[in-house]
Order: sequence, then C-alpha cells, then structure tokens
Amino acid sequence: MISKDLRQFQMTFDFLLHRLPQTFVVLWVVTLPPLYHVHVNAFQAKQLNQAEGCDFSQGQWVVDESYYPLYDASSDCPFIVQGFDCLINGRPDQDYLKYRWKPSACDLPRFDGVKFLETYRGKKITFVGDSISDNTWQSLACLLHIAVPESKYTLTRLTKHLSMFLFEEYQVTIMWVKDGYLVDAFRDTEKGRILKLDSITSWDMWNGDVLIFNTYHWWFHTGQTPTYFQVGNEIIDMDNMEAYRIGLTTWSNWVDSNIDPSKTTVIFQGIAAAHSGENHCINQTLPEEGSMPTYPGVDIVKSVLSNMKNQVYWLDITLQTQLRIDGHPSIYTGRGTSYEDCSHWCLAGAPDTWNEILYAVLLRN
Ligand SMILES: *[C@@H]1O[C@H](CO)[C@@H](O)[C@H](O)[C@H]1NC(C)=O
Repeated sequence: MISKDLRQFQMTFDFLLHRLPQTFVVLWVVTLPPLYHVHVNAFQAKQLNQAEGCDFSQGQWVVDESYYPLYDASSDCPFIVQGFDCLINGRPDQDYLKYRWKPSACDLPRFDGVKFLETYRGKKITFVGDSISDNTWQSLACLLHIAVPESKYTLTRLTKHLSMFLFEEYQVTIMWVKDGYLVDAFRDTEKGRILKLDSITSWDMWNGDVLIFNTYHWWFHTGQTPTYFQVGNEIIDMDNMEAYRIGLTTWSNWVDSNIDPSKTTVIFQGIAAAHSGENHCINQTLPEEGSMPTYPGVDIVKSVLSNMKNQVYWLDITLQTQLRIDGHPSIYTGRGTSYEDCSHWCLAGAPDTWNEILYAVLLRN
C-alpha cells in the first residue's frame, strides 16, 4: 500500500516538475515535507553517490584561480571539438574557467593523469550515452593527454556512433558509444521515432573494464517528429517521464543480468541540468549559489539505481550543473550567434569536475 502511494506520489511529483514553473514546485515541496522526507531517506541507506564516506554530489563552486582551468582546449587538446571550445569561438568572459567544485564534507583529490594511466594500463573505459557523454569523454581524454603530452595517442571516429581514444604507450582505451536512449530506438516510416521501452538489443559495444552510462536529454526533446513509446507489441500513450522510468529500469535489468560486477565497474552519470527556457544561459558569467529545487527525473534515477542488484555508482552531477548557468557554450558554439547551446558544457569546464569525481571513485583504493 505504502509503496504504491509513494510511486503515485512520485509520478505526480515528476509530472508537476516537468510542467510547472519552479517557484510553484518549490512551494509545493515545502508544503508536503513528511512524505518527501520518507522518500529521500529510503534511498540514502544505499549511499549510491558516496565514496569513502564523502558525498560528492553536495557542495559549492569556489574560485580557485591558482589551479583552474586545468587546460586551454585549443592549445593543449586540439582534438576537442569546436562546439565545446568556447574560447576559440569568441567567448569574452573568462571567470567561468576558474571554479573548483568543493564537496561539503571533503575535498576532491587532484586528478593525477599518470596515476590513472598506470592504474588502467591495458584497460578499456567506455562511455555509453548521448552527447553529454561525448562532453565527458573529450574532457577525460584531455585530462589524461595533458598529463603525458609527449606520449603518442590515436583518436579514431570508427563510426558515427563509436569513437576511440587510445594512449598507445599505456594501451589505455577510452571509448564513447553514442546511444541517446540506451533502449532500442527505431524509425518507423509512417509514425516517426519509436522507442521500445522494454528492449535492449544493440549492446555489442557496451564492454570495457569501466562502463559509464548516461541517458536523459533525448527523452525530452520536443522536435518536429513525435516520439512513440512501445512496450511489448503495443504503442502506449504516456508521459515522457514515465517512459524514462520504464526505459531506465530496462537498462538496470540489463546491467544486473549481463554485467559481472567482479570484472566490470559500472557507473551511471546522472542528469546534467540544462538551462533553456526562461532562465536561459545567454550572458551568464557567474555560477548560482545555494540550494536548488529537485530537478525533474532525478528521483527516477535514484529509485532505479537503488533497486539494482549490482552496485552501480551514481555520478550525481545534478546540483553542481544546476548551479553552473555560466558553464554552457551559449552563443559561442562556432555556429553563429543565432544558435544557442544551454545543454552542453564548455571545455575546460564542468565536465572536468565530473572526471575528477570519476577519478576519486575509481582510484580510491
Ligand atoms: C546580452 O548582452 C548583450 C550586451 O550587453 C546585449 O546586447 C544582449 O541583448 C544580451 N542578450 C540577452 C539575451 O540578454
């Protein structure tokens, strides 16, 4: 009874978050504290986003000019794509480059690229997900490259959906498998895009010693072609958020049935906040401070991960990205000022922090 009520509450909650202005949602949460707290506490027990007792998801951005930015994209890592290299695209302000993420209860360790490469010698690290995974993958390649700038690397775009960065001396491979939904997606000539929410068949590239998954933004794209959701053989009319929950659950079951946790470390990179709509990111040069309302979908990620058999680390970046309204390419994407990008992230920038957390999690022993 209780869990059913909670689930219905959560669906309503997500639905409201998705539709209504933030101020109303904040008020709504404040007026319903008891139920909300029960819900959160149930998940805290599993500490999905904690390493060595430190929760990296909570904290604040502090100026640290002596150490950041960690690199200059165009001179240090020329392989970074133009869309992420905001400086070369003419972004005039530079304060956004100087921030360090300070978790509330600890400090993040310094990213030691040589130690990373030595530890993962002969191993493969694979990002699977949308272009936010591309953002993270390019940042990691750069952070490792600047640690060993003389060491030979090969970057290969094997297909439109598969990119590989190889550090030859270390035989460390960093892959990005482009996969927006993780579940099966196909194009129907009449209808448009159909997602098979209960099916994962294209997992042949999902291998590596570390797998870092991410999916979110494509579920909420409001393009011209509609997206249909299919379960079994039927197209079912449902809210995008509900579809996301079902799709993510299918992914979690796939991981539980196909991944041997003694061989493969699985990480789920959480939702990176976008800043489109009313609070869009144009002309923003400073991070926000303080707390933020719960971002739509985060409760779904939390709940799906906490119900898994396998231990999956939740790389929870939602609060830190909510605060970084200044961190997006905005109109500095290289595509002209009529195009604005408030979803991806400038490099150097926020994705470097995600990799600092990744480093802390992977090399904590
Ligand atoms: C951004 O700032 C420029 C220069 O001050 C101004 O002309 C432009 O209207 C601003 N754009 C937005 C969307 O606020």
